[in-house]
Amino acid sequence: MSTKFSADDFYDYAYHERLSDIDFYLKTAQKFGQDGVLEMGCGTGRVLIEIAKKGIKIDGLDPNERRIDICRNKLSQLSADVRKNVSLSVSTIQDYKTDKKYSLITMPFRVFQHMLTPQEQEDVLNVTKQLLNKNGILVIDIFNPHIKMLASEEYKKEFGESHYTTGDGLPFVRKDRIADRDYFKQLQFCEEIYEYDMDGKHEKIINKYITRYTFKMELENLLKYKGFDVFETYGDFEGHKFGETPYAGDIVMLSKVKGR
Ligand SMILES: C[S@@+](CC[C@H](N)C(=O)[O-])C[C@H]1O[C@@H](n2cnc3c(N)ncnc32)[C@H](O)[C@@H]1O
Repeated sequence: MSTKFSADDFYDYAYHERLSDIDFYLKTAQKFGQDGVLEMGCGTGRVLIEIAKKGIKIDGLDPNERRIDICRNKLSQLSADVRKNVSLSVSTIQDYKTDKKYSLITMPFRVFQHMLTPQEQEDVLNVTKQLLNKNGILVIDIFNPHIKMLASEEYKKEFGESHYTTGDGLPFVRKDRIADRDYFKQLQFCEEIYEYDMDGKHEKIINKYITRYTFKMELENLLKYKGFDVFETYGDFEGHKFGETPYAGDIVMLSKVKGR
């Protein structure tokens, strides 16, 4: 790690305990990814690399160059057998160009929530539809909007303080804050906060980003409208169907193109 940090440099360390989605996407890739997987919004390769390690071919795209660099760097430390399974592109979903078709396309860890308008959501589904092969499967995961949380003023203060250490042994603190909301556009103006001490100075990085929340029936109807058949929805990454548990934190929706 260089001494000039960005939030991207802390990502893998801050999320190293998030494992159940990796396991879910790995099993999904083993089941549906025999003719190639495309991870849209692959970031640092947290999920992508684990799939490549199992011998499955996977392409990844992400517009964040720094995260793709981190992914490339992690891959460079792995065997040629793993590396040959991966191809990376710095691109948004909307601008992604390839002649390939995939049997599985995924957007792990709420990538779809970065599409901030209904039009952007539609554009992304149009691209996805073009890239799926005959029996191709699309998996989208988003958080299940919790009405009380969406309304609570508590989250306007910093919350969720967690302590971690980087691979180089630098302790850091991660917190979140929801600075503002737009209830009409279903947007949350979020801050991901990292704090650490270096050379006798206290440093604070605030990564600002906007996410759009989407409700389960809204996503289901959008997929139907764009010509997909939803065949499974889970409420978590452990395989519980949506609605089978008292509260579902996630919406994990599996669909395929209608009539294919
Ligand atoms: C929470 S991260 C998830 C990264 C990775 N899938 C994982 O599970 O660790 C969301 C990612 O979506 C990417 N992203 C945002 N807008 C995007 C777009 N229009 N097209 C593709 N990726 C996008 C971000 O750059 C970011 O890396």
